[in-house]
Amino acid sequence: MSRISKQGSKSNGNNLLSWAEERMPIMQSIAKRFIKYKPLKGIKIGVALHLEKKTGVLLRALQKGGAEVSASSCNPLTTDDHISAALSEEMDIHAWANQTNDEYYECLKNVMTSQPQLLIDDGCDLIFLAHKKYPEYVKNILGACEETTTGIVRLKAMHKEKALNFPVMAVNNANSKYLFDNRYGTGQSVIEGILSATNTLIAGKNIIVVGYGWCGRGIANRLKGLGAKVFVVETASSSTEGSSGYHRALEAHYDGCWVGSLDEIVHLGDIFISATGNKHAIGIKHMEKMKNGAILANAGHFNNEIDINGLESYSSSSKEILPNVDKYFLNNGKHLVLLSKGRLVNLSQPTGQGHPIEIMDASFAIQALCIEYLVENYQNLKPSVCDVPMSIDNEVAKIALETKEIYLDGLSDEQKKYLQTWQEGT
Ligand code: NAI
Repeated sequence: MSRISKQGSKSNGNNLLSWAEERMPIMQSIAKRFIKYKPLKGIKIGVALHLEKKTGVLLRALQKGGAEVSASSCNPLTTDDHISAALSEEMDIHAWANQTNDEYYECLKNVMTSQPQLLIDDGCDLIFLAHKKYPEYVKNILGACEETTTGIVRLKAMHKEKALNFPVMAVNNANSKYLFDNRYGTGQSVIEGILSATNTLIAGKNIIVVGYGWCGRGIANRLKGLGAKVFVVETASSSTEGSSGYHRALEAHYDGCWVGSLDEIVHLGDIFISATGNKHAIGIKHMEKMKNGAILANAGHFNNEIDINGLESYSSSSKEILPNVDKYFLNNGKHLVLLSKGRLVNLSQPTGQGHPIEIMDASFAIQALCIEYLVENYQNLKPSVCDVPMSIDNEVAKIALETKEIYLDGLSDEQKKYLQTWQEGT
């Protein structure tokens, strides 16, 4: 039986869901096909995703495909109570805004005890819980999909230690996901979250973005457009795959940001935003040196990017001055403002609405198509972190363009041949 908050209104939730659905043409076309062919008929799907309106559109599409859905959030602060109220009439929902950690895990547990055959996760808490506490149910799991960078990092570590027992589609790593969702989605929605929580002006502010990955790039570049002076902090790290901290720091420099170590520039920052997927990217040694009244926000998946325990022990007291806006009175006489308890500032209720709808249309299209792919192909997949097939990735980008009435010319046969030749061009 669903467990939700009494604060939510079913009719508000349905209005929000309709608003999102009307603006998600890729999901609409998938849902239409799912209704016709029922590719997920009889399959139980357990979901842990930020429970807000775009997620509701995905869950309804899975159900239209014939699936039985049981869902919770993937973060204690990110459920929209109106959405869970509306969805709980249609499926098994365990989620409400502003949960304690224990309540959050209780909800994940409820999803697992529905004995799902497929999982959709964001950050790997559900997949991790399944392996740790429910080995008897893991045997029946055909596969899973993972939405975010941090989840992929955890899954690769699990696989390396031979602890992963089913295939997981790396939805985050599809081009149609990270190029747009992590960059433009996070870029816009993190700024929106900060602005709606604080009503502050961006123009002229010194804003320090910690981490210049896909999310950091999006945030920094959008801040520049609003007139901020953007400082980027990266890490002196080499990499065995993809670009390293050195490459990203150089990229930020060429993108026109001031780049350096946090120690060096910390005293200048008016607003700090972390987007690293790493622990204590902003530590207490930095907070001690910050300006009076500096604002701290996190865009990374977990609430450990800002050292909150350190902040608490270095403060004489703290006070929630607005919903999820906390003022910390430091032992050095200054105060700092922490947004969203250090959790994802763009999704934490009541101010975060998450990524723009159009962005999640593509991300969740990848999710829906990967779930269908798992149903059709799980027998051929080994327990590992699996790439999203390029056919799905290309298809989603193509449909996204078509929904915007953007059509491209193909290559001629001569051009295709030319691109395969190693002879001097003629
Ligand atoms: P990414 O791997 O592309 O970038 C992370 C960057 O942080 C890298 O360039 C890395 O060198 C840097 N970094 C790591 N430790 C650092 C440190 N101590 N100091 C400075 N820089 C450091 O990852 P991506 O895709 O940008 O994701 C970042 C985080 O945001 C992840 O936790 C991810 O799950 C989360 N995320 C959040 C979203 C949201 O809606 N708020 C949406 C998508 C991802």
